[in-house]
Amino acid sequence: MERWSINDSAKIYNLDNWGADLFSINKKGNMCVHPSSNSKQSIDLRALMDDLIKRKIKPPVLLRFMDVLQGRIASISRVFKSAIQENDYPAKYQTFYPIKVNQQRQVVEAIASYGKRYNIGLEVGSKPELVAGISISTGNGLPIICNGYKDAEYIETVLYATKIGYDITLVVEKLFELEKIIELSKKTGIMPKLGIRVKLSSKGTGKWATSGGEDAKFGLRMSEIIAAIRMLEEQEMLPCVKLLHSHIGSQITKIDKIKTALIEAARVYTEMRKLGVGIEYLDIGGGLGVDYDGSKSSYFSSVNYTIEEYANDVIYQIKNICDEAGVECPNIISESGRATVAHYSVLVTNVLNTNTQNLMPDFEEMLAQSEKVAPTVRKLQDIFKSIDRYSLREDYHDTLQLISEAVSLFNLGYLTLNDRAIAEWLYSKIIKKINGIVEKTKPIPEELQNFQLHMRQTYFANFSLFQSIPDSWAIDQLFPIMPIQRLNQKPDVMASIADITCDSDGEITSFVGENGRAKSLPLHKIKKDEEYYIGFFLIGAYQEILGDLHNLFGDTNAVHITFNKKTGYMIDTVINGDATWETLKYVQYKGPEILKRVRDNLEKSVASRKTSIEESSHFIELLDRTLLGYTYLGE
Ligand SMILES: Cc1ncc(COP(=O)(O)O)c(C=O)c1O
Repeated sequence: MERWSINDSAKIYNLDNWGADLFSINKKGNMCVHPSSNSKQSIDLRALMDDLIKRKIKPPVLLRFMDVLQGRIASISRVFKSAIQENDYPAKYQTFYPIKVNQQRQVVEAIASYGKRYNIGLEVGSKPELVAGISISTGNGLPIICNGYKDAEYIETVLYATKIGYDITLVVEKLFELEKIIELSKKTGIMPKLGIRVKLSSKGTGKWATSGGEDAKFGLRMSEIIAAIRMLEEQEMLPCVKLLHSHIGSQITKIDKIKTALIEAARVYTEMRKLGVGIEYLDIGGGLGVDYDGSKSSYFSSVNYTIEEYANDVIYQIKNICDEAGVECPNIISESGRATVAHYSVLVTNVLNTNTQNLMPDFEEMLAQSEKVAPTVRKLQDIFKSIDRYSLREDYHDTLQLISEAVSLFNLGYLTLNDRAIAEWLYSKIIKKINGIVEKTKPIPEELQNFQLHMRQTYFANFSLFQSIPDSWAIDQLFPIMPIQRLNQKPDVMASIADITCDSDGEITSFVGENGRAKSLPLHKIKKDEEYYIGFFLIGAYQEILGDLHNLFGDTNAVHITFNKKTGYMIDTVINGDATWETLKYVQYKGPEILKRVRDNLEKSVASRKTSIEESSHFIELLDRTLLGYTYLGE
C-alpha cells in the first residue's frame, strides 16, 4: 500500500488554509474540532458520530459547536479592541449579530448570553425577526437595530417597545418610511431612536455586489439624506437621529472595496455632523467575509484579507477621515454575521454504499460465451488488451468514439442490450487502465489533464443539498467537504456527491482542493459494512434558514455540543429533525387524515379478501411509523 500520512490528507483537502486552526486530523486519521484556534482540546468527529448513533441520533446530523461560536464572537471583539488601542481611537466598538444569518432560538440565545460581556446587540430585518429580537432581548437588555422595509405595525411595535425601555434603533431605509415614522411618532407621542441608512456609491464584490452602489435596493441617496434632515428638523425630531448605517453587501472579497466604502461612509458621517445631526454611531454593516476555500484570494468563496486587517482598516480609515474633518470620532458598530457563525456548525452524514461490484454479472464470461460479438464491442476489447503509454492518446480518442458509436447503434436497433452493457463495462475498464498509466506519466498530455472526470464516481450521501447547503446549489458557493475518518489512508476514488433528492441538480461537483477549485473529491472505497461519513464544513451562516423542503426532506437532527475537560464533550441540546408528518403538514396534509383514508381503503380490500387482516394492520403500522419517523434514509 502506498505510504500516506494525515498531512497528505490535510493537503489535498486544503484543510490548513480554510480550517482557521479549528479543525485538524488526529493520529487515528479522524477529523477533529477544537474549541478555539490552536487549542489542544479536541473532539474526534468520528468518535462523536459513533456515540450519537448509540444515542439513536441518526444522520444527517448538524453538529453545532457552541465553544467555536463563542470563540468567534470573542475574536471579532478582540481584534477590534486591539485595533482601537493601536490607532488610539477615542470611541468604542460594538458588534451586532444580524439574526437573518441564523435565527434559531437556541443559537441566538447562546450568542446573546455569551456576547453580553462584549456588549453585543442584535440586528433584525423584518417584523418576525423584530419579535424574535425583542424576545431574546427581554431580560438581557440587548440593544436592537432594525433594518429592512417597515410598515405601520413594525414602526408602532418599535415605538412602544422603546417607551417600555427597550433600546431599539429604527433605521430609515426610504423617505416614505420616514414620513410614516414621523406620523406615528406624533400620534403616539413617543420619540424613536433613529438611524439613517446611506446608499453609498461604493460597491462590494462577488455575488452580493448589488447590495451596494447607486442601484442598491436599500438606503437614502445623498439628496434624500438632505431631504430627511429637513423633514426631521421641521418636526423638531432631528435629535432622534443617533446612527448612520451603511452596508455594501455580504462576503466582500477585496479589502480595497471595503476601504473605499469606509471612506465614503465616514465622509457622509462627518458632513452630517457638520450639518448639526448628532450622530453617535457609525454602523458599517456586514460584509466581513469567510475564506471558504482557503485560497486567500478575491475569488467569491474566499477573501484576500484577515479579520485583523479588516478591523485595522475600519478603525484607521474612520479615524483618518474624522481627524481630517475635525469631527469627533463615532462609536463604531459592525454587523458581521457570516464571520461570526460560519465555522461553528458541521453537517455530518453517511454515504449510502456505492459498491455495486458484487451485484454485477460476470461480463468477462458473457463476452467469452458470446457467439457473435458486435464489431464495436470487439474493437473496445482489443483496445483494452493493447493500450499502453505509447498508444494512450490514440486509444483514448478511439474509445470515446467507440462508446458514442455503441449508443448510436443501440438507438438504431443494431446493438443488443447485452452488447451495450458489455461495451459500457469495457469502457470503464479502459478508463481505469488509462488512469493507471496517466498517474505515472509526466507531463500529463493536455487533453488528459481533466481525465479524472471520467473516473469520477458518484457517492450518494444521505442529505438534501437544498435543505442543508442551498448556496452550493443556488450560487455555486464552495464549502469544504471531506471524510471524517480514514484520513491516514490514501483515498482511492475521485467522486462527486449526490444527495437523495430526485433532482439532478442535487449533486456537488465543485470542491475545495489542494490547488483551489477541484472537480472531484478524493474519497475512500467503502468497505463492506463500514459506515463512511462525510462532513460539510463552515455551513453555520445562512444555510439553515435558506434551506428548503425539496422532496419534503425536512430539517436535520441538530446537536449542540460543548467541550468538557473531564469527559471530552457534553451534549447540551438535541433538536429532533422534522418528522415526515411535519413536512407533510407544511404542504397541508394531515397525518391522522392520511391514516383514516388509507384504513378505509384497506377495510374494503380486506372485505373483498384481497388483503388479510394481518397484512392490512402491518401496512397501517408501517405508514404510522413513516409518518412519525425521520424524513431521511435509515438502514
Ligand atoms: C444590513 C445587513 N447587515 C448585516 C448583514 C450580514 O452580512 P455578513 O453576513 O456578510 O456579515 C447583512 C447581510 O447581507 C445585511 O443586509
